Amino acid sequence: MSKNSLMFAAKLLGLASVLLLSACERPPATSVQHGYAGSGMVQVYNPRAVEKSIAANEVPEAAPPADAEGPKAGKIYQNVKVLGDLSVGQFTRLMANMTAWIAPEQGCAYCHNPANFADDSKYTKVVARKMVEMTQHINTDWKSHVSQTGVTCYTCHRGNPVPKDIWFTADNEPKGANFIGDTAGQNKAAKTVGLSSLPNDPFTPFLLGKEEIRVNGNTALPTGNRQSIKQAEWTFGLMMHMSSSLGVNCTYCHNTRSIAQWEGGPPQRVTAWHGIRMARDLNLNYLTPLTDVFPAHRKGELGDVAKLNCATCHQGAYKPLFGAGMLKDHPELGRDTQLADTPPVKAAKAALQASAAAPAVKR
Ligand code: HEC
Ligand code: HEC
Ligand code: HEC
Ligand code: HEC
Repeated sequence: MSKNSLMFAAKLLGLASVLLLSACERPPATSVQHGYAGSGMVQVYNPRAVEKSIAANEVPEAAPPADAEGPKAGKIYQNVKVLGDLSVGQFTRLMANMTAWIAPEQGCAYCHNPANFADDSKYTKVVARKMVEMTQHINTDWKSHVSQTGVTCYTCHRGNPVPKDIWFTADNEPKGANFIGDTAGQNKAAKTVGLSSLPNDPFTPFLLGKEEIRVNGNTALPTGNRQSIKQAEWTFGLMMHMSSSLGVNCTYCHNTRSIAQWEGGPPQRVTAWHGIRMARDLNLNYLTPLTDVFPAHRKGELGDVAKLNCATCHQGAYKPLFGAGMLKDHPELGRDTQLADTPPVKAAKAALQASAAAPAVKR
């Protein structure tokens, strides 16, 4: 072989290895211990990704609190169904905040008919009213997940009418000449499951339906604890989503001895367990009932409404907004103190109970 062709072969080899490695993340990577030394409980971070995540999770400054005294919004305005107990000052402050959080470019008219603010003709206003109830429900009834940190509209919306991370049920029905049967959305390299070949929609079974999130049966004989390869693949799909939504590795929630075992695992897994139930409850009892309210162009290919998952709130951070609590500056979205046991609270509690009766999903 001539020297030239050798050089060429070497170059080709170099190029090939660059191409092969480009699927991996560019260094540097740093690791942080997250459990007993020697147990392999380590989180691996890339400073570039962390920097991006910090920039995306900054909190807007809160306006000073409004006067709680004075006439109530429910008395002054014509069509206030949820926020009637706020003073007019508090109500106006919240309207200004909602505009900044949801529709900063479009303004009040994104939800309102400017000729008549009491009018409910825009779907966005009807959705927003339900969203206020949903936010209050999260902050009151899901403290097991959101703690005192809580959420506001900004946690999900971040200045966008449609939050960045939403999902629709994937249309995986086999179509036309079909020789491989139902693939359950596999091998489509979906972003939802970290570009792996796992089923592309782990959300419908787990974050809308209440399938068991399991890989192994826990009894020798079948005792109703149904397991299947599809179940296992869905489980790993969901886990990929949970890891990337929070910007963490599997060992943030699992111990390194056994994935299934709870003993010796980090407490974060318990928080995550509640988070799964919370996402299911919100999708089932707040978003799905809005299906007829949303216009066709906001719906998925099966005509379903946009739904939320871990990424909708977390957006790459282990705690949304890295744990900065906005709720303390917006207590009206918590509802706990002044509004206990009003009709919306009772409705929310009934909805929570109803979520135990989630529909079965096709396996
Ligand atoms: C993201 C949607 C949204 C935006 C943006 C918004 N509002 Fe509202 N607004 C609502 C909802 C929902 C209600 C009803 C609240 C209820 O039923 O408790 C409401 C009610 C009102 C009412 C009471 C009307 C009545 O007589 O019943 C006024 C006044 C009002 N908004 C003013 C404003 C102003 C001013 C802005 C802009 C600074 C604004 N809103 C921006 C959703 C919005
Ligand atoms: C837990 C996440 C979450 C929170 C908190 C939240 N939203 Fe939403 N919101 C969603 C999702 C998901 C949708 C559906 C996306 C779509 O519109 O297709 C949505 C849609 C909307 C829309 C319809 C926008 C459009 O153009 O279709 C409005 C208006 C809205 N939200 C207002 C609010 C308000 C006001 C608050 C706070 C009181 C709030 N949201 C809090 C997740 C959230
Ligand atoms: C944010 C926390 C969290 C992260 C990160 C996470 N998991 Fe999980 N994992 C859970 C929880 C909670 C359950 C139990 C779910 C339930 O029972 O509802 C679970 C269950 C599982 C199961 C089923 C175990 C059984 O009982 O059969 C497997 C397998 C699994 N995870 C693998 C992984 C893998 C692999 C990763 C990394 C890609 C991962 N997990 C990342 C929280 C997490
Ligand atoms: C409605 C918004 C929302 C959704 C949806 C959501 N989370 Fe959270 N999550 C939060 C908030 C707020 C906190 C911070 C609570 C605190 O300060 O202790 C949190 C905290 C956590 C923590 C604890 C982190 C730590 O280091 O202590 C884990 C783990 C977690 N979430 C996992 C999940 C998983 C998994 C999902 C999806 C199944 C999910 N979350 C969906 C709002 C949300």
